[in-house]
Amino acid sequence: MAEALSREGFGRLFFGRAFASAHGEARAAELRGAPRRARVVCVASGKGGVGKSILATNLAVLRARAGERVLLIDFDVGFANDHLLYGLAPKHDLVGVLEGRVSALDALATGPEGVQLLSGGVGRTELVSATRRELERLFRALAPLESRFDRIIVDHGAGLSYATLAQLSVAETLLVVASHEVTALSDAYALFKRAHAANPRVRAGLVINRAPSRAHVDSAWERYSGACRKFLGAVPELVGWVPADDAVSASVDERRPLVLSHPDSPAARAIEPIASWRALDQAAGASAFYEQAGAVLR
Ligand SMILES: Nc1ncnc2c1ncn2[C@@H]1O[C@H](COP(=O)(O)OP(=O)(O)OP(=O)(O)O)[C@@H](O)[C@H]1O
Ligand SMILES: [Mg+2]
Repeated sequence: MAEALSREGFGRLFFGRAFASAHGEARAAELRGAPRRARVVCVASGKGGVGKSILATNLAVLRARAGERVLLIDFDVGFANDHLLYGLAPKHDLVGVLEGRVSALDALATGPEGVQLLSGGVGRTELVSATRRELERLFRALAPLESRFDRIIVDHGAGLSYATLAQLSVAETLLVVASHEVTALSDAYALFKRAHAANPRVRAGLVINRAPSRAHVDSAWERYSGACRKFLGAVPELVGWVPADDAVSASVDERRPLVLSHPDSPAARAIEPIASWRALDQAAGASAFYEQAGAVLR
C-alpha cells in the first residue's frame, strides 16, 4: 500500500513537472507574440465499444487537473456519450453548431475539473450523413475554439467516417483504442493503416483496454506490432493498457469519471500514465487544425 501510494505520488509529481514545462513553453510563445495553438489528440478505434469514450473523458479530466484548458469534442455525432459520463445535459450540440443556431463557443458545457465539452448530440442523425460541404462548414465553425484551449481531445465514433478521416489526416497525435481480441486488433490495424497512409507524420499510440491480464496484452501487442511492421513499415507506440475492472462500469452508473470516482482502482491507475504520454506534450500544436481538416475534404 505504502509503495502504491508513493508510486502514485511520484506519478503526479512527474506529470505535473512535464506539464509545467509544456505550459511554460506555451506561455513563453505567447509572450513572444506567437499565436496560441491548441494541441489536438484524436481518440479513435476501428471497432465500437472498446473504450474510447472512457479513455477520452478521463484523459480530459487528468489534463485539466494538471492545469490545461481542455476542450473535449464528442464527434460521435447522434450517438454521443461523453455528456452522460460527465453527468451533464448540454443544451447544445454539434448539429446546432452546424445549423448555425449556436456558436461553437456558446455550445460548450462545463464538465468536471472545468473540462469544456462540445457534445455530439443524441438521436440527431443530420450529421451522420453530412455532405463534405456541411462538414467543411462545421469545421469552419469550430476553428475559433482553437485559440481558446491548450488541448483539444476529439472522441471519435467507431470506424472511419469522412469526419474522422479528415481529422486523422491532419492530426499530430492519435490514440488508437482496441481490446486484446483479434477482431478489435484487426480493426485497429485497418484504422492505423488508413490514418498512416493519409498522414504519415502522425504520432500514433495504441491503448489496449479491458485486458484480462498482462499476458493477453503481450500477445496482442506482438501480433499487432508484427503486422504493422511487416505490412506498413510503421508501428504505433504501445502507450498503455487498462485492465478489465468493474470500477469502470460503476463510474458510468455514477456518471462521474473513473479517475475522480474511483481514483485508486486498477483501471484509473492505468489511465494516469496514458495521460502523460510524451507525444501529448511534444506536439507542436495545430496551426489551424480545422481549416486544414476542411481542406482535406475539398
Ligand atoms: N477497462 C474496462 N473494464 C471494464 N469495463 C470497461 C472498461 N472499459 C470500458 N468498459 C465498458 O465498456 C463500455 C463501453 O466503453 P466506451 O463507451 O468507452 O466505448 P467506445 O469505444 O467509446 O464505444 P463507441 O464505439 O460506441 O463510441 C463502458 O460503458 C464500460 O461499461
Ligand atoms: Mg464512444
